[in-house]
Amino acid sequence: MITSLRLKNFKNFADETLKLGPFTVIVGANASGKSNIRDAFRFLHGIGRGYTLAEIIGGKVGVGGQLEWEPIRGAPNEIVRMSEGSNNGIGEFYASLSVRSGGENMDYSCAVGVNPGAGDGFRLLTEMMMADDQPIVGMVSSEQEWRYMQEVRPALARPLEHDPIREDQRSRLCSAIQSMRFLEPSPVRMREPSVPGATAPGDYGQNLPTVLESICADADRKQTLLSWFEELTPMDVQGFEFPRDPSGRVHLYITERNGRKVSAYSASDGTLRFLGILAALLNEDAGGIYFFEEIDNGIHPNRLWLLLDFIERQTAKGKVQVITTTHNPALLAWMNDETFEHTSVVYRDQYWSDSVIRPIADLYNLRELRKSKGIEWLLTSGWLESAMKFSEGDPDSDHLDGADEDDWGMEEE
Ligand SMILES: Nc1ncnc2c1ncn2[C@@H]1O[C@H](COP(=O)(O)OP(=O)(O)OP(=O)(O)O)[C@@H](O)[C@H]1O
Ligand SMILES: [Mg+2]
Repeated sequence: MITSLRLKNFKNFADETLKLGPFTVIVGANASGKSNIRDAFRFLHGIGRGYTLAEIIGGKVGVGGQLEWEPIRGAPNEIVRMSEGSNNGIGEFYASLSVRSGGENMDYSCAVGVNPGAGDGFRLLTEMMMADDQPIVGMVSSEQEWRYMQEVRPALARPLEHDPIREDQRSRLCSAIQSMRFLEPSPVRMREPSVPGATAPGDYGQNLPTVLESICADADRKQTLLSWFEELTPMDVQGFEFPRDPSGRVHLYITERNGRKVSAYSASDGTLRFLGILAALLNEDAGGIYFFEEIDNGIHPNRLWLLLDFIERQTAKGKVQVITTTHNPALLAWMNDETFEHTSVVYRDQYWSDSVIRPIADLYNLRELRKSKGIEWLLTSGWLESAMKFSEGDPDSDHLDGADEDDWGMEEE
């Protein structure tokens, strides 16, 4: 499980840390930096997959000419934080992850030099892996190695051949970072028939028919899938059918008890989104870390709490970890206490160029206010933003202790 992410000089973060739990929720206004956090996770995941920096940042074309790895958004000129206007993309950034694995606290960190204009590209300045505060591997590159360090794969993904103990630590750290999946369920892609054999969903929810077919091959998992699916949609679902077309591709039909059959082509967008999320977290290979962009997208508010309940139950089992961004305050109203403790707000003031990341539970009195006022009201009324502005803008935090509710626009109705 990833326990924290720290970013320095990355996109709109000067030096910020995100704390993570089994289920982490990231809230924040438009353009506050939620997806920039996803970009940072993708960057680190790319290192775990063994790509070079140029491939991670700029994208990698695989065999057959298809894009195997999408570039990081804004690559290459807008990875490094622009502090005062533009800096032409030149500079350095730092990213680190803490992971809990096999009873050990492990850390991976790297500093990257970026100089796209001069043709020098990207360079790993330092790379460090630690287990329980003891170094596994540390690397500092010199100026002379600039060219070399562009071509080499970062050490995280390179086995330590002559040191089995450190190799075991490195490979556990690397596996955790490799196990991240970035899912943005897209109904258009989920309607496509799948190629037989694909048992894990693609980044946009592709291969839904075969993933569901493999879940249904196990009676218990099929039952779990059907019961959640029935709860989430108004359908009286009996099961699924997976007919093959003449070219061998697998299609999806949803069968209802009244005998009606609905193909994926005419299933509603929300139905497919539910199925995409259920398929991701219930499939045979489900394990590791899932990042869902805007989990509430296209989901009716009265079904959102069920989706939240499903994710909270799945993550509580300890096999999967979920991180999601959301705009929907309803999600915060229904989450359990553990999820609340792992919810962070990304905040950017109109007058600051940088964003800050804060656990919402640390905000002035929010734990208590959540119970007495209802968090949904606090969010829709702009309380969260006011609280962030107050706590970040005023260096004299003593004011917070003495503030009463009226200072926060919290008059009783
Ligand atoms: N290199 C950079 N330096 C400074 N700020 C940057 C940099 N790159 C991106 N940004 C800022 O990050 C913003 C985009 O952030 P992001 O896409 O993460 O927003 P978001 O919270 O996901 O918003 P939405 O809810 O609309 O999806 C840009 O508008 C820009 O202000
Ligand atoms: Mg976004």
